[in-house]
Amino acid sequence: MILGVAYYPEHWPEERWETDARLMREAGITRVRIGEFAWHRMEPKDGAFQFDWLKRAVELLGRHGIKTILGTPTPTYPAWLHMKHPDIHQVNSNGTIREFGMRQDACKNHPGYRDYARRIVTRLADALGKHPDVVAWQTDNEFGCHGTARCWCSYCRKAFQEWLRKRFSNDIRALNTAWGTFFWSQDYNSFDEIGVPRDTAGCAGNDGQNPALVLDFYRFSSDVQVEFQREQIKILRAKSPGRLITHNLMGAHRTVNYFHLAADIDVVSWDNYPFSSNGTNLPPNSMHHDLMRGCKQKNVWVMEQGSGQGGWGSYNATPQPGQMRLWAWQAVARGADMVSFFRWRSCRWGREQYWHGLLYHHGQPQRRYQEAKALGAELAALSKELDGTTVESQVGILFDYDSIWALETQPCAQGFDYIALCREYAQAFARLGVTADGVSLDSDLSRYDLLIAPSMHLITPEGAERLKAYVHNGGTLLLGPRSGVKDTEDAVVDALLPGLLREPAGCHVEDYDNFGMVKNLTMHVRDEDDRVWPARIMADVLVPEGKARTLLTYAGHYYAGKPAAVENPYGNGVCIYLGTLLDESGLRMLAERLLRRVHVSAISGLPECVEVVCRVKPGGTYTFYLNHSAHPVAVDLVRPGVDLISGKETTGKTEIAGFNLLIVKERG
Ligand code: GAL
Repeated sequence: MILGVAYYPEHWPEERWETDARLMREAGITRVRIGEFAWHRMEPKDGAFQFDWLKRAVELLGRHGIKTILGTPTPTYPAWLHMKHPDIHQVNSNGTIREFGMRQDACKNHPGYRDYARRIVTRLADALGKHPDVVAWQTDNEFGCHGTARCWCSYCRKAFQEWLRKRFSNDIRALNTAWGTFFWSQDYNSFDEIGVPRDTAGCAGNDGQNPALVLDFYRFSSDVQVEFQREQIKILRAKSPGRLITHNLMGAHRTVNYFHLAADIDVVSWDNYPFSSNGTNLPPNSMHHDLMRGCKQKNVWVMEQGSGQGGWGSYNATPQPGQMRLWAWQAVARGADMVSFFRWRSCRWGREQYWHGLLYHHGQPQRRYQEAKALGAELAALSKELDGTTVESQVGILFDYDSIWALETQPCAQGFDYIALCREYAQAFARLGVTADGVSLDSDLSRYDLLIAPSMHLITPEGAERLKAYVHNGGTLLLGPRSGVKDTEDAVVDALLPGLLREPAGCHVEDYDNFGMVKNLTMHVRDEDDRVWPARIMADVLVPEGKARTLLTYAGHYYAGKPAAVENPYGNGVCIYLGTLLDESGLRMLAERLLRRVHVSAISGLPECVEVVCRVKPGGTYTFYLNHSAHPVAVDLVRPGVDLISGKETTGKTEIAGFNLLIVKERG
């Protein structure tokens, strides 16, 4: 277990570095991430490179036993580069430019930016790539943050045309057919005629454009980020052998396909700011942890974790005493092997003046430093036990970018949001003490007894085959509403729904409704035992086929009594099609039912503020009980054992103090 911090030596006088390094060492910090925004410090003028200061910082930290994760500085291009290439900036969908002053805002398809980015990464890797104190690299910083994955400039237009040319094997007729361009006379005679989907008459943000074009533009924009990173990785692998390469992801992010991005790096890291749970007594959103872990189906690093109040123009509350530690342990419980705080010392200048670090602007150690220090001692003491443990999930939740993007332009119903659904499912399982990896259709699905597809809205023939094989081989698959509606090209399929998934689903859709728009209608679903749960937003009205049986029926509106959920035995497994959205109580019922079916034990009666997660290794099961409320709470331990934090034997009902936790090493 590693404790780290984001450090910006370039923000402080060099005489201060020694104090910083000493305080870090005393706090048990053994990693820093540095450099990711320091392009101008590294290259103050075109071609005039300066890495000496960075080397001195790396070595000084190294003398204190602190190793460096070096960031490539490409998110913030220097002003001199802007002067050289005045059109380097990204362009919004309305054609206006993104002015200098932010980050991630140079167009990645601008050839000048690309050349300079390649060069700074090469020179940095030449200067420090083999330094013994540099142990890892972070590519750039948060690809796609501030809405920057998508750019509508003329360089992107050209690159998009090339991307399409490849995708459609240079056959414009194939593109026209796939996109249905006869609609509104949009047929193209050549790839050069195709634009990036800028705002149209009466419609902002791609809303008026052909959805198929928009989906391909989203895929292309994500690929651009992946390709940009790949270029850096190639340089780093050649010039800095043996160092791990990571990128700091942002949890459940929409615009970059994280599975693609993660495939090229050694370890996923991510930035965890659980401020929204500050003061709610509820566990911070577990979905982010679960998706980050699922990206490579292995342990992760938290590269940044909030360590003070954060804010640019609106401000979050300061983590209360104990919360930083608790959030760090939550991260560990859910699969992190490193937790690194953002940032060391609050900056006196710049847009993040009030995005606080462990130290306030004055740099004197106070409460939050002391808390980090206590955590450092704890992590060091427990490393031996916890190193090598992993989270073994038996449940997977599909985070399917094609479906997310297809639904972004055509959401089918107001309030139907794929990512929100993922969160609801993740929370439902978390409340039962069950972890669920966020995975893609290309992940190893055979690890999971239960797979949730919140809506398999767009499904390719290969994807359908994978899901069929998963169920056939004994898996249990839950398909949410509006599944199987779209084909690879974003066209609505020419078949009874759910199209390619009809066979495993064992049903077809007779009618679909967006009842959220019907005034004064309260909708419910009813189960075999006549219990009712609220239904929300939409309804696929189902017709069971073959051996399928009805699990839930609609109670209300003109399809009252018709099937809302159908269960179908398929091969050695089972597929359940749920045609509507449930509320929290319904999801709980469903989650319990599904878990029973796949023999995964759920914990009932967990207090709302308590989260239970397991890490395991051969010969060791470690169950974390995290109390996210400020008050003590008693929990029934799943199994007895020794609490590694207090060193005491624990069994049965055990009290956990406010913002505190137990890590129970179970016997046997
Ligand atoms: C992250 C970013 C950091 C810092 C932090 C606080 O998203 O990577 O550089 O900006 O947020 O805003």
